[in-house]
Amino acid sequence: MRNLVEAIRPLLGSVMSQLGVAELDWNDLLAGSTDSAFADVAMPCHSLSRVMRKSPNVIADEILETLGSSTDGVCEVSSVNGFLNFSADSRWLAGLLQDALSDDRLRVSTEESRVIVIDYSSPNVAKHMHVGHLRSTVIGDALNRMLTHKGHRVVPENHIGDWGTPFGMLIEHLIDMGVEKGSQDIDLSTFYSDARAKFDSDSEFASRSRARVVRMQASEPETIELWQMLVDRSLIHFNEVYQRMGVLLTDDDIAGESKYESALPGVVDKLTETGMLEESDGAKVVYLEGWKNRDGDPLPLIIQKADGGYNYATTDLACILDRIENVGSRDFLYVVGAEQAQHFSMVFDVARNADFMDEEVNSIHVSFGLVMGTDGKKLASRTGGAVHLNDLLLEAVERADAIVAQKNPSLSDEERSEVANMLGIGAIKYADLSTDRTNNYTFEWEKMLSFDGNTAPYLQYAHARICSIFSKDGIDRNSIREANIYLNHEREMALGRALIAFPEAFDSACSSHSPHKLATQLHTIAQAFASFYEVCPVLGSEGETRGSRLALCDLTARTLQTGLDLLGIASPQRM
Ligand code: ARG
Repeated sequence: MRNLVEAIRPLLGSVMSQLGVAELDWNDLLAGSTDSAFADVAMPCHSLSRVMRKSPNVIADEILETLGSSTDGVCEVSSVNGFLNFSADSRWLAGLLQDALSDDRLRVSTEESRVIVIDYSSPNVAKHMHVGHLRSTVIGDALNRMLTHKGHRVVPENHIGDWGTPFGMLIEHLIDMGVEKGSQDIDLSTFYSDARAKFDSDSEFASRSRARVVRMQASEPETIELWQMLVDRSLIHFNEVYQRMGVLLTDDDIAGESKYESALPGVVDKLTETGMLEESDGAKVVYLEGWKNRDGDPLPLIIQKADGGYNYATTDLACILDRIENVGSRDFLYVVGAEQAQHFSMVFDVARNADFMDEEVNSIHVSFGLVMGTDGKKLASRTGGAVHLNDLLLEAVERADAIVAQKNPSLSDEERSEVANMLGIGAIKYADLSTDRTNNYTFEWEKMLSFDGNTAPYLQYAHARICSIFSKDGIDRNSIREANIYLNHEREMALGRALIAFPEAFDSACSSHSPHKLATQLHTIAQAFASFYEVCPVLGSEGETRGSRLALCDLTARTLQTGLDLLGIASPQRM
């Protein structure tokens, strides 16, 4: 039994058949009527009027009467204005909480395991990671944790931009700079823009760069060695950022564009065999039904340019083949900004039409909106350029440090910096994960670091507060899991309702790839805990009540900690 709807369904089933109403007519009413706590159900009887030819009021009364006392022990039912209101019985709810208390998974079930590729983070070589990679990294990493917890084998793939025409100018620039072989002395903050500026203003440099691309594509050892220097330097930077953020990605997950280079001619061959490839101004392209440019002309997907070079899309097609044939996956999630929607849509269309993917392959663009500044524009640095991700992370931790120092001066330096790290990074991640990913959100330091509202510090604080209840009295948390739960107070009931909805909120977050659904439920739980704790003494109560309230505290802390962990956010014991 997962929730009240599931408990009511069989009871209502027999009543409705007595009243001569088919399953189809009433079942949907129940499903759509659950509130977010999954412990109260308001079923409207209006649409049954057509079937039963009576007013909603009369129908509700009639069902109530026929139900009689059969809902005893599950819920209380009342008939109000054509609605049947079911509200969970406190002992029934306590029973579900009891199950959660003794369950390490907190009633979260596992699914039949699939191999799921999650393409996320995917920054570009020779550049600093910027705020645009923040969302992909944070959302992708949360989905990695969540789907793994659901029982799947997640294969994270970091599709870094490490190949293509810009590398001609990047390598030439590296040579001009006189960077010694094996040296890491490359300043990524200006490297790319300096190379670009030179390319645009110096025709001799530009032609050297073009020639260099050809040598790179021919795998000339000396050129590849220089290319590798740029990749190695960039990986040091990426890993530094990943470590600071506490994301799961490692070098083993790198599956950059270069990995698919040798498979690109095969993509052209395969598309040629299907007859989909057409010539357009010397380029090889695919025209897809339904795709038009701004002038209303057919919009092609370019597979191979007139000069023989390949495109971003060609690489993604090779990548799809690799994921199916070599990784053995049929579920792909691409955690990439909404501005690439057309790219993925066209690539998926081509891959399906060319039979690279059959109907069993689930390829999803997990798209997201922009990070906005408080000025209402896309977040930018003071000079107008992209904000470096590393700078944001450092500032978050610095700000959190000051806040923690003020809130709790008794922490040692070491402890404070540990907590500041969890708070600062947590705040950035949570601000991102708590909003529906398809929306833009505004990056506001004060708001995300606040101890009030739907923020990481608020949830982390609720968790730490519970930990302090236990440590104050030296209570062994394992022993609490044997306690009996009683819900005698209205606020205990409210907390119980919030806790019991955790598995469903989590499942729905997983199936829609929407971490905010999990975040929202955690916030509801933390709020319900605060109002419970406000009026229900825990350590100050006695006997069974004390045991039961301690159990509620333990369950709340574990749910918050588990939930935050699934979002990639740490929960300090003290703060
Ligand atoms: N490197 C790209 C960028 O920074 C993102 C790559 C996304 N993944 C993919 N398979 N195309 O925009």
